[in-house]
Amino acid sequence: MSTAKKEYKRVTVKSLVDMKQQGEKISMLTAYDYSMAKIVDAAKVDVILVGDSASNVMAGHETTLPITLDQMIYHASSVIRAIERALVVVDLPFGSYQSDPKEALRSAIRIMKESGAHAVKVEGGAEIKESVKRILAAGIPVMGHLGLTPQSIYKFGTYTVRAKEDDEAEKLIEDAKMLEKLGCFGIVLEKIPADLTKVVSEKLTIPTIGIGGGKHADGQVLVIHDLLGMTHEFNPRFLRRYMNLYEEMGNAISEYVNDVKRQDFPNDDEQY
Ligand code: KIV
Repeated sequence: MSTAKKEYKRVTVKSLVDMKQQGEKISMLTAYDYSMAKIVDAAKVDVILVGDSASNVMAGHETTLPITLDQMIYHASSVIRAIERALVVVDLPFGSYQSDPKEALRSAIRIMKESGAHAVKVEGGAEIKESVKRILAAGIPVMGHLGLTPQSIYKFGTYTVRAKEDDEAEKLIEDAKMLEKLGCFGIVLEKIPADLTKVVSEKLTIPTIGIGGGKHADGQVLVIHDLLGMTHEFNPRFLRRYMNLYEEMGNAISEYVNDVKRQDFPNDDEQY
């Protein structure tokens, strides 16, 4: 097991490639607001993803599809105000980059200009090649996302493991090579077999970041609400919970309610 080798005062897209070369695993976590991003950044997470999973965990939607570009910019600018060290990557939301490359570029520029983010992430391979090229040509760093791509959930029909069959695995490898060749600085691999993650990670010089992709990815990402145990009904095999905040927060809030009801809060020391 290798441990951190070099201190990064500020993580850049280049730092991530260096980390892969040095065999240092990359840590990535989502954040969507200022207070959480401050904690995540202080804990030295390398990459903060302002994911469109905000649609689920912040807004309560069933899928990531409803979140808008304006809402992503709002979340991203809140995160950016908190950051001193991490690289901040923002998801381009569904509908903001798939229809044509010019619109993709306009959306990416809005994210960069209005939030101050450092990079964008897009889902898909060959289908979005021209959009990725256009964004990269403007000097905006792009991260890819292959395997289970939640913005296409209605095409897949389920959230089960992707690319178990040879043809889908081969397409994923080709897409990953294409994204690297275009100039992407990293690729998220979501819910694919560990052996396939190994093959892809060995073929690329840019880092792979796994979520349900097993231990061979060059880094790992989780949704922070899942890691902290705030989303207690979501139980995929790949998730490791480090806390049970759903219960702990619930208990703290119940205590507060009781204290108010029995007129224990505020006490004499807690008033002016
Ligand atoms: O939106 C998100 O949080 C993501 C991660 C699951 C990788 O894309």
